[in-house]
Amino acid sequence: MARRTPAVAAVGLAAALALSSCASAGTTRADASAESGLASSTTASATGAPEASSPEAGASEHTEGALPGSGSASATPSEASTATGEPGATGDPTASGTPGHASHTAPASSATQTPDPQDTVAPTAPAQSIKGGVDCSKVPCVALTFDDGPGRYTQQILDALTAAKAKATFFLIGTQIKAYPQLVKAEVAAGMQLGNHTWDHADLTRLTHAQQLAELTKVDRELAGLVGVTPVFLRPPGGALDKAEKLALKRPIADWSVDTEDWRTRNTAQTIKVASSAKPGDIVLMHDIHASTAAAVPQIVKNLQAKGYHLVTLTELIGQHPTLGIAYGWGQKPGGPKHS
Ligand code: NI
Repeated sequence: MARRTPAVAAVGLAAALALSSCASAGTTRADASAESGLASSTTASATGAPEASSPEAGASEHTEGALPGSGSASATPSEASTATGEPGATGDPTASGTPGHASHTAPASSATQTPDPQDTVAPTAPAQSIKGGVDCSKVPCVALTFDDGPGRYTQQILDALTAAKAKATFFLIGTQIKAYPQLVKAEVAAGMQLGNHTWDHADLTRLTHAQQLAELTKVDRELAGLVGVTPVFLRPPGGALDKAEKLALKRPIADWSVDTEDWRTRNTAQTIKVASSAKPGDIVLMHDIHASTAAAVPQIVKNLQAKGYHLVTLTELIGQHPTLGIAYGWGQKPGGPKHS
């Protein structure tokens, strides 16, 4: 059973799990940021090396390559070049086989060493328009979401979704956008919704408000330049922000109501089982940086569609006018009660 009660406790647990898994890296990055007074994106490069070799980071939410059999350390040249569109330029941050937050820090070390004052200037590009064709107040809907990409399995997931006429939302990390710009374009072309997951997977709870804004605005600006739109929804890494911080960011926030824990189990059957237990109105959390998750998606889609559920973007699920500062997630139904 994916549904757990009480709702707030369930979300809190999910957030706590995610936070604990990222605690060491998040602390390092934030501490460095506090000392320097710079946005965390500029300090990520300084902490990248220690994080990448940190043994405990192998258990983190975003490790790629720690799991035997994930295939992450054996990227074929075709995979890498197809996925990145920049073969050899930035490398494949998720294919290095290096434990830790390499997927977040590797691109930063090569691309964001110099602080850019413009990072905090809001882009002028419009928010991504999600038309959709599904009215979730009339038909049962589930929103699949994928965090921490794009990555080397994103195209595989896009293909599976597209083949089944399913939509999803991808919460992107800025450094991954830099590494895989073509995949971001592919997501938009496939009608998927983009979400903001911070520039370098920062633990926003450890940043000042100004630093939080820089983390988000830098992603917006990158996407504005790349695909001409900005994301509507924010998903804070770990899902945790207190109420005042959520309100201050003035963005709709999407947490989740079904946590597959795919990053932890790296188990395709388990990911299928949990995701397929979603009920109408649920937001399912997965990560498109894991082979086990990519392998699970076709069956998840099949199972949910077999129940008559429409697989939709967050905007379709929640509506065109989401409330700012609200963390949608647990049990959120269109028109239903919101949790904060
Ligand atoms: Ni994440």
